[in-house]
Amino acid sequence: MTAPARRKLFVTNALPYANGPLHLGHLVGYIQADVWVRFQRMQGHEVTYVCADDAHGTPIMLAAEKAGVAPETFIAGIKTGHEQDFAAFHIAFDHYHSTHSEENRVLSERIYAALEKGGYIATREIEQAYDPVKGMFLPDRYIKGICPNCGTPDQYGDNCENCSATYSARELKEPFSVLSGVAPEWRPSEHYFFTLSKLQAAVESWLARAEVHSSVKAKLNEWIEAGLKDWDISRDAPYFGFEIPGKPGKYFYVWLDAPIGYFASLLAHLGGDQAGLEAIIGADSTAEMWHFIGKDIVNFHGLFWPAMLRGSGLRKPTGISVNGYLTVDGAKMSKSRGTFIKARTYLDVGLNPEYLRYYFAAKLGPGVVDIDLNLEDFVARVNSDLVGKYVNIASRCAGFITKLFGGRLADSMGTFAPPSDWQTQGWTNNYEEREFGAVIRDAMMLADRENERLQRVAPWKLANDDSPEARTKLHQICTAALDTFRVISILLKPILPNTVAEAEKFLNCAPLTWACINQPLLGHTINDYQPLLTRVDRPTVQKMVEASKEDLAPSAKSAPSSNSAPAKGGEAKTATAADAPRLPPHPPSPSTTSPRSNCASPASKTRNPWKAPTSC
Ligand code: MSP
Ligand code: ZN
Repeated sequence: MTAPARRKLFVTNALPYANGPLHLGHLVGYIQADVWVRFQRMQGHEVTYVCADDAHGTPIMLAAEKAGVAPETFIAGIKTGHEQDFAAFHIAFDHYHSTHSEENRVLSERIYAALEKGGYIATREIEQAYDPVKGMFLPDRYIKGICPNCGTPDQYGDNCENCSATYSARELKEPFSVLSGVAPEWRPSEHYFFTLSKLQAAVESWLARAEVHSSVKAKLNEWIEAGLKDWDISRDAPYFGFEIPGKPGKYFYVWLDAPIGYFASLLAHLGGDQAGLEAIIGADSTAEMWHFIGKDIVNFHGLFWPAMLRGSGLRKPTGISVNGYLTVDGAKMSKSRGTFIKARTYLDVGLNPEYLRYYFAAKLGPGVVDIDLNLEDFVARVNSDLVGKYVNIASRCAGFITKLFGGRLADSMGTFAPPSDWQTQGWTNNYEEREFGAVIRDAMMLADRENERLQRVAPWKLANDDSPEARTKLHQICTAALDTFRVISILLKPILPNTVAEAEKFLNCAPLTWACINQPLLGHTINDYQPLLTRVDRPTVQKMVEASKEDLAPSAKSAPSSNSAPAKGGEAKTATAADAPRLPPHPPSPSTTSPRSNCASPASKTRNPWKAPTSC
């Protein structure tokens, strides 16, 4: 196997909103990226892997207000919880930052100034809904009224859940503010627009070369062909974010400074080393830059972000990996069914975080496919694959090595020797292409083969025969089986980092890498075997479901009462309803700031996972 050239990779995960705890849906994309990063490191590549909390915007400002604390205090508490959850699931960022940081302020101001200098910022006066009681402009998700199309009451300001019509908030009949209950006023305000239209050709040519799944490319190209419209990137006070320099009372829209947060986290990781930062983000960078995101935010990463980078003279992403959405037992996560499961609830009932990593990995591929966590299948699969196949090999053979051979592996595997060269190319390609499901299929095929061989040769019977021939055969078959166990451990190491670290202790070997795959531990002394994994039982999973039902808070039901934000919509999550399902699942912005005529694509339906590329 020739060693691949050492690559330099900068890898990011979407920044979770600092308005609530992580749930199992979030974890899909974080686990996917972490597995890929661990694989790249095992290949000997240099990876910097960062993330941060996305701390700005109206929902977070209102959630803090509701909690009676300053936004800074509120986001600090959420960040601590996120970091603990990530660590528990072995998602090992090199740095975890916040978009509400000095690094991000400086970088956002720099990028904005460069866009302005390049002639990419336009000033326009727009009319926007204003809540005179709360004293603030209202994003669409904070306005409700009667659908202008079908007459259904209590519909949000951008689309109707009954007839799927989309409209501007101004078209709603009898509109009211969800925050105060009063009718909104329409007030003029000066906003700043990023003139995406001028960068359309640049985005298009970047996309042609970028490593983006064909289905995502097709969607992005559809939006590009429809014409990219200018994007409103300012918000009026009161707003929790960065004030735009020289524009008192005007703030950067959360989605302007959010992706810049990737760079802020990198800069913090580099301890403020500007030259180190430029080497990665500068136009001449030779590093790869990969973003792992969910399917609801492809417009931001596949259109706006490359345009911002191009417009400010920085490098553009190498690739974007897009994950589908998580369903549980075949349906959208549901609080009442107890399938809206927080990461913490999973951990609290005592489930092994690596089991979820394994289960997700088994279902993950490079495409944008929704993943179903079938709880029955989860239990069956973990028990059968990990306990019944993988660790079973070690537990079947280790005792003989310890008791009969003083813990020492044989000097030769004799006729039980594996192929002289494990064909690793297919496995590494699968990892590289994020075909984790295929990696797991291959690993389990090896495990099946080894278990079948053990069944045939039956070391437990051989052990009863103390002739030298039988002893040699027993020594060789157990050594060979443990070598297969070692190879499977290498294959699964990015997915099960903790278990494989324990396996390394048992094998008494240096950290396993791809480079050592063809180096069996012959004549090597191993340690006593301790059970590596235990079976999952259905009652524990049931306990998690019950505990998730208990999380159901009455405040999660949306009611247009003072200070309560709607329980749905990214822009509308509150601290208590933060984990409510989101439709559409990312923060929309006021329709008034980008009238419908400004939309680049046909109006997106509520259930359409692909969000239109403008902020309509
Ligand atoms: N703050 C933005 C991202 C900014 S990136 C510069 C955001 N935050 S989020 O908390 O709503 O989502 C974080 C990540 O989790 C996103 O990639 C999102 O797509 C993903 N998911 C959120 N819910 C999910 C599921 N139910 N299933 C799979 N992924 C999910 O978006
Ligand atoms: Zn309707």
